[in-house]
Amino acid sequence: IVPNFTLNTGKKIPSIGYGTWQAKDEELEKALDAALETGYRHIDTAYVYGNEKVIGNVLKKWISQGKLKREDLFLVTKLPTFGNRPENVNKYMQRSLKNLQVDYVDLYLVHLPFALKEVEGKPHPKTPEGNIDLDTTTDHIALWKEMEKLVDAGYTKAIGLSNFNKTQVERILKNCKIQPSSLQIELHVYLQHNILVDFCKKNNILVTAYSPLGAPGLGTFNAKFGKTDTLPSVLGNPTVKEIAKKHGKTEAQVVLRFDIQRGIIPIPKSTNPGRLRQNLDIFDFELDSEDLQKLKSLDAGIRLLDFKIFKGVEKHPEYPFRSDIQE
Ligand code: A2P
Repeated sequence: IVPNFTLNTGKKIPSIGYGTWQAKDEELEKALDAALETGYRHIDTAYVYGNEKVIGNVLKKWISQGKLKREDLFLVTKLPTFGNRPENVNKYMQRSLKNLQVDYVDLYLVHLPFALKEVEGKPHPKTPEGNIDLDTTTDHIALWKEMEKLVDAGYTKAIGLSNFNKTQVERILKNCKIQPSSLQIELHVYLQHNILVDFCKKNNILVTAYSPLGAPGLGTFNAKFGKTDTLPSVLGNPTVKEIAKKHGKTEAQVVLRFDIQRGIIPIPKSTNPGRLRQNLDIFDFELDSEDLQKLKSLDAGIRLLDFKIFKGVEKHPEYPFRSDIQE
């Protein structure tokens, strides 16, 4: 039911994915069952989400019961920030494979362009007040060479980037043997990333949108770190509401459909079976040019995840990692 996009490796990727960031373990197990029942086959996680084991258990159950074949799944996970050193890449790849209980993933992403110092055994190294635990010397090219080795070894079918800006993606493109297949970024109607999306399109890199519903989830995440800024509501936006009414669809379906028509893969997160189903039910209508124009006009360049929760991140030579202002 879900149409595929094609990666630059020639492999297919379902054009909508199931995001799992911040889903609580108990909820996630049920929600993933529901997501698989509904027809999601593209699952997005990361080492640092701490939920790979739960996901692995559910997938193993589905596969061993003969309800799912590994090759029908598109599994994405990410190298954690504290793994951003060439010598750590394979180590964290192995940990993710073990957690997920699979022999390979379909896409492995470098999660962030900067590194945090590695703290063994702690998924989230705490940065003490005022003390910079940030490693600003991350060598993206050396890191990428190790990512390429993972493809050669068969641990992942494709490799890509997340939260990298245009300059940083360009640097990889100029120095790679295997091209990044995908770039995952915060993207919603208030942050449409036109320059970066065009650039990726030209270079055959698929863009994946996290927080496609306007980041109610990101607001919750930021709040944990005392950051109280949130986006104006995407789903409550009058233009989005008007277009939803016109098509007899929900606001969420309109903004997800907008991504699909831009060639972007949204990965909405939901633990609610009804909303899970709703978010997948976006392939029976089409936004017309007037709708697209109206939605385009909502772009405001507002980004919620500015990484300032990582103390000292502003001192990174390439901060703010923004593609709309750094070309
Ligand atoms: P829930 O899990 O209760 O459905 P984002 O990825 O942009 O941060 O959005 C995720 C948030 O949006 C979650 O809090 C999720 O809550 C909520 N959500 C997911 N799908 C929908 C939908 N179709 N309509 C309204 N809210 C949704």
